[in-house]
Amino acid sequence: MKRILTGIQPSGSITLGNYIGAIKQMVNMQNDYETYIFIADMHAITVPQDPKELPNNIKNLLAIYLASGIDYKKNTIFLQSDNIYHANISWMLECLTPYGELSRMTQFKDKSKKNANFSAGLLTYPILMASDILIYDVDYVPTGQDQKQHVELTRDIAIRINKKYNEDVFKVPEPLITKGGAKIMDLQDPTKKMSKSSENQKGVIYLLDTEDTIRKKIGSAVTDSVGKVKYDIENQPGISNLITIYSVLTNKSIEEVEKEFENSNYGIFKKSVADVVVEELSKIQEKYNELVNSNKLEEILKNGKEKTTEIAKNKYEKLKSIIGLHI
Ligand code: TYM
Repeated sequence: MKRILTGIQPSGSITLGNYIGAIKQMVNMQNDYETYIFIADMHAITVPQDPKELPNNIKNLLAIYLASGIDYKKNTIFLQSDNIYHANISWMLECLTPYGELSRMTQFKDKSKKNANFSAGLLTYPILMASDILIYDVDYVPTGQDQKQHVELTRDIAIRINKKYNEDVFKVPEPLITKGGAKIMDLQDPTKKMSKSSENQKGVIYLLDTEDTIRKKIGSAVTDSVGKVKYDIENQPGISNLITIYSVLTNKSIEEVEKEFENSNYGIFKKSVADVVVEELSKIQEKYNELVNSNKLEEILKNGKEKTTEIAKNKYEKLKSIIGLHI
């Protein structure tokens, strides 16, 4: 069985973009793949986090995974910091990766501009991500478009190390970018990615937003003066983004959505988009509320820790051996 892995940072509330770009893909694939899904808490601390808030965000993300349909019996679910080998292996990979490759990463360039005092971890972040992926010899990494460059760096690292030591140390993974929903855009500025750290909260739909909030946010989404429900990113980025959201959540093609709304005005279209988002998220929220305080959560992470630690330890020993860290 082919293996897939993905992770999300518990840095604040989870967005519709995270859900469509990563979680929904995992839910759709969990029956046909060996799946690993984790909470990237060590990635979250590359920028400042409140130590009182972080545990809640971790717990909430775990409950969101489960409420979204990630089945803990089918998936290995774990907390990144519970597995000490991720950071250990990351260090070895850091020493085998040129600095220049990291400083070229788009996300690093963007995030480091926002805070002149950025941490060294913000630079080495993609290598920790490479470690997360390469430990498990995965075939595919389902993510949104914004993480593609990091998965490509991961591939380069794997290929370089396999060549250097003349051995198949790592499987070379491929990114798996959702068709259509790879980049859900900000509702207020549809030229920007919908992001947890967005300045204008009105442009971001959170999985735990109330029905009223969701309807308001979609109702006030920026559109255009063309007046046709047509997928045209260049001239109608806002409408195109709403078409994408509707298409992914209803499993209809872009053409089917355009046809469905060819005689509708934007008001009617927006209401239909809001209806499907509310329907999808209210199911998740109902389950989330049942799960968030369940004592099952700790047990799930404990099992994930045990299983992944064993796998990662083998990879660690292998690396120690080929690098020469032994007597
Ligand atoms: P993070 O937490 O920023 O985002 C989690 C996932 O959500 C996707 N995503 C989106 N997809 C579509 N539209 C959007 N607007 C949108 N916003 C976010 C992201 O592409 C991602 O798939 N470094 C990663 C976490 C990570 C990871 C890994 C992922 C750590 N190690 C190993 C895969 C494999 C991150 O910060 O994602």
